[in-house]
Parts: sequence; structure tokens; C-alpha cells
Amino acid sequence: MSRCGMLLTACMLVATLAACGKATERERVDFERMRIQQRADLYDASHVFASGGVMQAPPTGAVSRESAADTGVIASGMYGKALATTIPIAVTPALLDTGRRQFGIYCAVCHGPAAFGGSLVAANMGPPRPPSLRRAAMLTKPIGYIYYVATNGFGRMPPYNWQLTARERWAIAAYVQQLQRTAATDSMSIRDSLNALTYARWDSIAAARRQP
Ligand code: HEC
Repeated sequence: MSRCGMLLTACMLVATLAACGKATERERVDFERMRIQQRADLYDASHVFASGGVMQAPPTGAVSRESAADTGVIASGMYGKALATTIPIAVTPALLDTGRRQFGIYCAVCHGPAAFGGSLVAANMGPPRPPSLRRAAMLTKPIGYIYYVATNGFGRMPPYNWQLTARERWAIAAYVQQLQRTAATDSMSIRDSLNALTYARWDSIAAARRQP
């Protein structure tokens, strides 16, 4: 090997060692110390707050940013005292997709995956069970009704205005309307509607037994 070649090899070796040194140094950063430190977790007790808990209720009258932005018919679902007969925001594929997802999370557990009322909760709840949102009586109601019930609750059903924004509730209404206009041919929808028929039968048998 020439002198120059040897020098070059030596240089490369030094460079390589230097690079290795850097890599191990990077690994040695003490992330563990950052991970294990004092912090407050959800539901923890707290000495700081008078309530004794970490989690604090928002001050009375606090309004979420999303809700504050929506007013009038978008927020209430009403024109004056009349329920809206049309959806007051643009019904886009994206809105319907939001509706499908949020319906699946918030409504399907009780009203069934295809809104026929054939859910497991309905099976165990006893009458009045979560009704079908596709039955004839529902089809003649203004669309604002679904929004209004999702917002304010109805009988045994709780309101969802604190968990869903106005736009999400309209998205659900739009999705339910789409379901109402579509024939149920897939197996999930058929099972949902058959389950609901079974529960209706249980209720009519129970009612007949109660007759003197
Ligand atoms: C915990 C179960 C439950 C959930 C979750 C639920 N509902 Fe209900 N819903 C019910 C019950 C029960 C009734 C009937 C209440 C009664 O008659 O007292 C009802 C009634 C309704 C009605 C009125 C139907 C009619 O016959 O007039 C609408 C509309 C409705 N729900 C829509 C929704 C929407 C939209 C969601 C999702 C945001 C939802 N529900 C989530 C249980 C539920």
C-alpha cells in the first residue's frame, strides 16, 4: 500500500469510529427520566383543586368552540317553532361519511346498525325499546326531528348535544335519511330488521298475557 493509501485508510477508520461514537451517544439519552416524572392522570385525586379530583368541570355557561360557531336553525333544528324540513348544511359525501361513522358510534348500539332497532341493547332493554328509525311513521316526520331528538333526547333516550357537534348531528340525520331512502338488502340490515321483528313479537306476546 502506498503512503497516501495508508493515510486514507487511517482517515476512514477515524471517521468511522467518530460516527459510531455519535450513534451510541444518541442512544444514551435518558428518555426514561422524562417518562417517569410527576404528572396528573385522568381520574386521579388532586390536592390542588377544591373538588379533590384532577378532572375539572367546565365553568357554568361555558360553550364549546364548535357549538358557539353554529347558531339559528343549524344549532336548534328549528325555524321558529317548526322543525326544519331540509338539512341546513351542504350534504356532501364527506358529511354522509361522518354521519355513517358517528351513527355507528353513538346510535347503532341502540337503534341497530341499519337503524331498524334490532340491536343487542334493544333486546335487553324491554319496552319502550329503541324504535326503528326506518318505520313508516318516521318517514313522514321532518328531517329536523331526527336532529332535534339527537340534540335534546327523547323519553328514555339521552341527549347527545354535549358529545356531538351540531354538524355531526346533522351528519347523522343526513345518514339516517339516506338509510330511509335505500332498500335494505345487505345481510347486516336484514339481520337488524329481523331482530327488531322478533322484539316486537316478544312485546305483543307480553301484552297479550297481561290482558285479563
Ligand atoms: C341508549 C340507547 C339509545 C341510543 C344510544 C340512542 N337512542 Fe334514540 N331512542 C332510544 C329509545 C329507548 C327511544 C324511545 C324512547 C321512548 O319512547 O321513551 C329512542 C327514540 C329515538 C327517536 C324518536 C323515534 C320516534 O319514534 O319518534 C329518534 C329520532 C332517535 N331515537 C334517534 C337517535 C339518534 C339519531 C341517536 C344517535 C345520536 C340515538 N337515537 C341514540 C334509545 C337510544
